Amino acid sequence: MATKQSKKSAPKAKKVAAKSAAKYGYFDDAKKEYVLTTPATPIKWCNYVGTLNFGGIVDTTGGTLVCKGDPALNRITKYIAQMPCSDFKASTVYIRVKDAKGYKIFSPFYVPTLTKLDKWECHVGLSYMRWNAEAMGLKVQVTIFVPTGSNTLLQDIQVTNVSGASKEVDIIPVYEFSHFEAEKQLTNADWVPQTMTLKAHPEKDGCLVLEQYAYMKRDFAVNYVTANGKVSSFDGDRRVFLGHNEMGSWANPLSLQNKELNNSECDRGDNIAALMIHAGKIAAKKTFRTCTQLGQEQSLKVAAKAIKKYRDLKNVDKAFDELAKFWENYLSTIQVNTPDAAFNSMVNVHNPRQCHTTKNWSRYLSLYQLGYGTSRGIGYRDSSQDLMGVMSHMPEEALVLTKNLLSVQRPEGNAMHQYAPLALEEDNGNEANAGDSREKKGVLDENGNPAYADWYGDDHLWIVLTVANYLRETGKMELLNEEIPFYEAGKKRAQREKGTVLEHLKRSLKFSREHLGKHGLPLLGFADWNDCMNLPLGAESTFNTALYAKALLEMMGIEEALGDKEAVEMYKGWYEDVKKAFNDSAWDGKWWTRWFDKDGNGYGVSSAKYGKIYCNGQSWPVISGIAFGDRAVQGMDSLNKLLNTKYGVKSSTPGYRGFEPAVGGISTYPPGAKENGGIFLHTNPWVMIAETILGRGDKAFEYYCQINPASKNGILDIFESEPYCYPQNILGDEHKQFGMGRNAWLSGTSSWTYQAATQFIIGIRASFDGLVVDPCIPSAWAGFEATRKFRGATYQITVKNPNHVCKGVAKMVVDGQEIDSNVAPVFTKGIHKVEVTLG
Ligand code: GLC
Repeated sequence: MATKQSKKSAPKAKKVAAKSAAKYGYFDDAKKEYVLTTPATPIKWCNYVGTLNFGGIVDTTGGTLVCKGDPALNRITKYIAQMPCSDFKASTVYIRVKDAKGYKIFSPFYVPTLTKLDKWECHVGLSYMRWNAEAMGLKVQVTIFVPTGSNTLLQDIQVTNVSGASKEVDIIPVYEFSHFEAEKQLTNADWVPQTMTLKAHPEKDGCLVLEQYAYMKRDFAVNYVTANGKVSSFDGDRRVFLGHNEMGSWANPLSLQNKELNNSECDRGDNIAALMIHAGKIAAKKTFRTCTQLGQEQSLKVAAKAIKKYRDLKNVDKAFDELAKFWENYLSTIQVNTPDAAFNSMVNVHNPRQCHTTKNWSRYLSLYQLGYGTSRGIGYRDSSQDLMGVMSHMPEEALVLTKNLLSVQRPEGNAMHQYAPLALEEDNGNEANAGDSREKKGVLDENGNPAYADWYGDDHLWIVLTVANYLRETGKMELLNEEIPFYEAGKKRAQREKGTVLEHLKRSLKFSREHLGKHGLPLLGFADWNDCMNLPLGAESTFNTALYAKALLEMMGIEEALGDKEAVEMYKGWYEDVKKAFNDSAWDGKWWTRWFDKDGNGYGVSSAKYGKIYCNGQSWPVISGIAFGDRAVQGMDSLNKLLNTKYGVKSSTPGYRGFEPAVGGISTYPPGAKENGGIFLHTNPWVMIAETILGRGDKAFEYYCQINPASKNGILDIFESEPYCYPQNILGDEHKQFGMGRNAWLSGTSSWTYQAATQFIIGIRASFDGLVVDPCIPSAWAGFEATRKFRGATYQITVKNPNHVCKGVAKMVVDGQEIDSNVAPVFTKGIHKVEVTLG
């Protein structure tokens, strides 16, 4: 509870974008939703339902991309993201009304019928989508979600007659299936259709289950679609449903002109599940409700329990309430009340929600990362960072993924770049791979040796930060003694070398310590965080240098908590060595160099024509403490001067002006795009964090605000991307479309901006000894309030800033008692008041 005084110090937040002013939609903070008011968004927007175990994407016009366990290896629906926004994408619902002239159809999603609607709203909620549409005298509400922990996608459809006279209505939900191996669906038009099978199972009471599988999966994994009531007819064959040898279209399926569908099963071909549900004559003001299920189980026998459960609409309502409770509990871990409404909205709802999404989907499945083949999977560096965004909220779930990542670390200490989750379960020594570096495997140098590394210089270091985060959050140091195998290609898990978690971390650091270049800096490997800069073997990376240094600091913290003084000293020595090597070699005059190639030429230096200065090159040395004093400040000031724009900080400047094979990936983009001088958003929270370390809260907050998607609701014709989540990139000022966002949802921006906001701006973070409160806020703020759950206790924190400083705790009072630090003790239960005064 806030005290009276503290309420004064946390002034009422200004409202974000006014409802009326917003062209595409608005934030409904009370319901924790974003509400779209038009389906014609600049580009397709979406939401996520369920988890990687079962779930996927629901777009704002009713398209669904569902999979179970693995988007590449076990996909269920055929969603082709590249098709125009107006096209059918794997699912829709047709509403059919009969009048004297015949049948008329519309879709509450607008797509694919494109029928004019009297009203249309799509509520992007926490793991659910809800549409409210009106047409032809009917009000239709559709809600799509996956009950927590289930393997079922529910679609709750309610049709209310608002016309004043009774109407004869039919509801026709449709799904289109994909082959389980998603890439094969696109690349093989012989084997795939021969194997795709759809069978109907009518039941005595008029209910119906449509069962679908690729032939080889018949005895292991079947998909099914059913509804809670009578289904009078169906179609399983797309050609039959659309009609006239597919001259009928998704916008106007010819079968819908007949009373009943054709009852087509499908022994080969394009499998769909279309159900004819007669709502009958709906009287004025009356509602008809039905709920469809799309699921996957080992067999229909196994599915029977779930089918029965969700045919009872009470259980559907209960599942929806449970989902809301899950989110309430999840979000209650950290809640803030600051003077900035857009900040509150992101920190309290949308950002932690996005972190939950990136934790599940890594960079595997979005409308940009399409989840096909082995091109991607769970990325080692990506997920290690994503995990830090959910560590306070779900440390034990985070630990499962953390252990999976540790299990694809090699005995040498470096890590595989990515793995496919289902292949990991199969455990045949073939589940992880070396990412893009595979492409340069055959390239040799002048002596006939491999010219490029087949390992990445950063992957293995991130996990040290992740494990340290888990330990600080939970205090469960025993994790360090747990044995986890290393990854040895071609060997089954049981045959692989094992090591304790502590040993895994030690090997990470040792690998970098033993792979140094000419200046004593860690080697680049195939790439560091910046995937697009692939210099030949021997190149050094100052990003890897800083990440290695940060990982060493984390390890010192862990060893200190374990009481191993000798180890602390050893790692301190390694840290000092690399800090010296960095300071001796990497200062370019006004900022830090980003890379040295194998011959010692600098990249990210003032003498370069393109890529003179890099953002990460300045922020990370500050974050890791290897840059200090004047140079730390000067590097950040140069960044501000040369890289900052009103839409965010660019990752480098100027962009390369054409393809240069010698530098590769970065120069495949036009100047201003992505890593080539674009605003690669993931780098921005690091700038915020570095500024808070320098104590410049005004600057940190400015960097925060300029990328806050919620604040872009008024400029969506420029930004284009979803305003309720961070995109991966925004085009930079060298590009004509400066300010345009792309690659929404799956970006490290989410985890790091959340960390920047909660741990560095608000400044509340877990430590081995307790909860640190060390804010670095805009000087204009008179204070703020926050609630933070930590190791079983709830901390109610009030921060006052009477002198309008940015940083510096002058006084901390915990449960009425002044304490001599800014670390609130570990309590393990109860509610505790923490009052902090800055000054
Ligand atoms: C993409 C990749 C990520 C990489 C970043 C910068 O976001 O998923 O792994 O760090 O690009 O190149």
